[in-house]
This record gives sequence, structure tokens and C-alpha cells, in this order.
Amino acid sequence: MTVAVLKEKHPNEKRVALIPRHVSALAETGADVVVESGAGSQALHEDEEFASQGAHIESDRQRLLSEADVLLVVRGPGSDPNFAAADLDVLRAGTALVGFLEPLAAPEIMQSLAERRLAVFSMELMPRITRAQSMDALSSMATIAGYKAVLLAAQHSPRMFPLMMTAAGTLTPARVLVLGAGVAGLQAIATARRLGAVVEAYDVRPVVKEQVESLGARFVELKLDAGDAETSGGYAAAQSEEFYRRQRELLTEHLSQSDVVITTAAVPGKQAPILVSEEMFTSLRPGAVIVDLAAEKGGNCALTEAGKRVVRNGVTVIGPINLPSEVPVHASQMFSKNVSAFLGEILKDGNLHLDLEDEIVRGTLVAREGRLVHPAVIEALKGD
Ligand code: NAI
Repeated sequence: MTVAVLKEKHPNEKRVALIPRHVSALAETGADVVVESGAGSQALHEDEEFASQGAHIESDRQRLLSEADVLLVVRGPGSDPNFAAADLDVLRAGTALVGFLEPLAAPEIMQSLAERRLAVFSMELMPRITRAQSMDALSSMATIAGYKAVLLAAQHSPRMFPLMMTAAGTLTPARVLVLGAGVAGLQAIATARRLGAVVEAYDVRPVVKEQVESLGARFVELKLDAGDAETSGGYAAAQSEEFYRRQRELLTEHLSQSDVVITTAAVPGKQAPILVSEEMFTSLRPGAVIVDLAAEKGGNCALTEAGKRVVRNGVTVIGPINLPSEVPVHASQMFSKNVSAFLGEILKDGNLHLDLEDEIVRGTLVAREGRLVHPAVIEALKGD
């Protein structure tokens, strides 16, 4: 059983799917770990470090691909538009592909992987159940993005975050508003609090109030009826256009008092809701900074441009793409831990062993034996 670790080709991808620390545990399960030369270098893990943990280093990418029984990637076809067909061509039928694959956004690519008879596992589809917490790569990356978003805002803000009493006078603390208090939002709150800001946060799911308050932030309550705000999976339910319009109206007052706004609102499978419209810009303070973590899903702010920094009326809007890759050491460490824990579920006695009754296997398996098997991906393909 050969577990291969591919060097990421996406221009802005610095993460690696497996770090040296997790090689030996994998080898103990009977797997040979083969790492493409240079795969970890941008995450500060050189080939020698992998080799010292028992990995074989391969500089011939095609050979590595052709020998893989399990191929580990951070970004695979679907999440990396540059993923080469030539790379896929050398994979053997039955090879398991594990990584972030964006299956719901790219169902036709998943179909083509199915036709190649690969066993395709998407880390994004990991069920959010207690047993799978150590495999929850989306939460890992959201944690990093929430942290980094606040640092980005602090860097571009013309104000400092903490309260300072100095001989030159008192500096008031920055006011930070976090919209969407899921995994990324909660980490943004914690980070902004550590920097000394006064933080308030809002989420459409009222159950997060306690979590927000436990981090020392104020929970913003809007007079809105969100109905069943939370799905059984713990995610936000989509709301009507009228709801979003009213939400924007009620949020305007809070926005007008904020120096920094971090937006993270998302509804799975849908375009991100617009929480800050273009008209709302006139009520924002000059010098305010918005960091829109939903930029890749269309953005929570009407002026967001993914991958760009836009300034309007003195307000800066940053739409970062792939923030976790900007913290490649810890992002790789967390992703590698998540993937290793997942491999523990699907590798038994040195072989790929798929228990299709297992919620984790069923939840993440997109395709096998020549066909798509994940209901949500099949549905997404029909909707295309
Ligand atoms: P996400 O990235 O899909 O959404 C981020 C946040 O945006 C969510 O908190 C959502 O409620 C909020 N949101 C959506 N529409 C909004 C709107 N119009 N206005 C304001 N906020 C809005 O979600 P994420 O962060 O990936 O996870 C959400 C929840 O999933 C967690 O808070 C938790 O309850 C649950 N979860 C459970 C896990 C487990 O049990 N193993 C692991 C991770 C998360």
C-alpha cells in the first residue's frame, strides 16, 4: 500500500497534505509513504525531514502518481483549476484520492474522476459529528482564517486595537464587529479580544450567543424572526430576500460604530448572503476596514472583490482568498492531522477498507467503482 503526497501546483498554495511528524504513524499501519520532492518546502518541511521519518522521496511526479494507492492532496481537481489531466491520466483505477476537491461546486469534474474509476474522498464533506472532529479539516482551516483575518484588518486599520493610557493621552480601543459566529467568526472574536479590541458579534443562529459571550464579546440581537435558523447539521438555514434586506437595515447602526468588520456568513451550497450593501457604505466610519472571509463564495459585502483590496469612501474592503495558505506551517499541521485521522478510518491492515455503513466513509465518499455515489454531488450534477 503506497500513500503518496503530491506537491501542490496551485500558484498560491503553500500547504502540504502530510507533514513529517505524521509519516511514521502511517508507516506503522503498513503503508509506504512516498513524498514528491519539494512537497513540504513552502510549509518549511524539507525532503530530508520527511526521509528521516521513513518516507521515500520521489522527484519523478509521474512515477509517484502511477504507484499511488492513496493520493493525498490539499487541493485536487475541483479546487485547483490547474490540476493537470496528465497527472490524472497516470493514476491507476482504484486509487483513492483524498483532499479538498470542492465536489459541490465542480460536480462535472467529480463525474470525470468517477469515470477514471478513482475512489474519491472529499475532506469538505466530512460529517460534523463528534467522532469526526479530529478529521474536520474545514474547521481547522476556518480557525486559521478567522485568526488571520483579524491580523489583516489590524494591519490595514489606521487605528490600533488596544486601549492605551500613555503620557500622550488615552487611546480608545478599536471596535470590531464580527458577522457570522461560526468556527472562523469565533476565532476572529478571540483574536480581536486578545489584541484588546471591544468586540460585538452577530449570527443568525441564536444558539451561538453563549459562545460569543464566553469569549468576552457582546452578542448583537436583531429584532428578526429567523424561523428555524439552524439545520440539523448545525449550519445556518437560507433565509428569504426580505429577511436579508431587513437584516441589513438593522445592522447599519452597528456598522456605523465599527472600526473593523469581519464577515464570515455562509450558507452551505448557496451564494453567501449580502450583509453589507453598497448603500451602507455611506454610514461606515472613514478608515473602517472590512475583511470579507466569504469572498470566495461571492462575498458578504457588495463591494468585495475576491483576492483584492478595494477602497470606497475611505473604507477598505479586503476579500482574501485562501488565507490558511498564508499560515502554511500550522495550516499543514492541522490538515495533516485531519487527513491522518481520516486514513485511520479507511486503511485497515495496510489495505484500503471501505465500510460503506460507516457515516464518515459514506459522508466523504464522492465516487467509487466508476460512478458518483454521494447524493449531494449527484444532485449538484443534475442542477448544473
Ligand atoms: P459556515 O462557514 O457555513 O457559516 C459561518 C457562520 O455564518 C455560521 O455560524 C452561520 O450561522 C452564519 N450565518 C449564515 N448566514 C448568516 C446571516 N445571514 N447573518 C449572520 N450570520 C450568518 O459555518 P461553520 O463555521 O463551518 O460552522 C457552523 C456551525 O457548525 C458551528 O458553529 C457548529 O455549530 C457546527 N460545527 C459542528 C462541529 C461538530 O460537531 N463536529 C464542527 C464544526 C462546526
